[in-house]
Amino acid sequence: MAAPKIVLILSGANLNLLGQREPEIYGTMTLDDHLNVARATAKDVGLTIEHVQANDSAQLVEAIHAARGRVAGIVINPGAFTHYAWSLHDALAAFDGPVVEAHLSQPLARESWRHTSVIAPVAAGTISGFGAATYALAVTAMAALLSR
Ligand code: DQA
Repeated sequence: MAAPKIVLILSGANLNLLGQREPEIYGTMTLDDHLNVARATAKDVGLTIEHVQANDSAQLVEAIHAARGRVAGIVINPGAFTHYAWSLHDALAAFDGPVVEAHLSQPLARESWRHTSVIAPVAAGTISGFGAATYALAVTAMAALLSR
């Protein structure tokens, strides 16, 4: 049997503080809790998860470069990098597989500076605003894209 396809989950700035950080907005689940949901969902659909979290966009750029030709798809919650990190946009544009953008909150319902995503133009689609269900939905969306 072929090895399961790899999905890289990327987590941007401040997501290491999930569970403690503004729980009224982002909920009480930690990043590890979300990753456990993602891994369980991935297992059900025959995918495997790798994960990188960084508070520095350069580390995420490096992780995207290292994914080229090896990883089937990328799920990215860039945190605040979403709104201005063109280096992430360009790195993802040079990645050959599908990209799913994910947010726990709904940025479009928040401050106006969160209404722009520089990631959206290089993503197949966006899952946002579903809190605890976000990563299950994002991995399910990725499975649908990879089975096309
Ligand atoms: C976020 C939304 C961003 O606007 C914010 O900067 C984050 C988290 C989310 O998951 O809802 O850090 O990406």
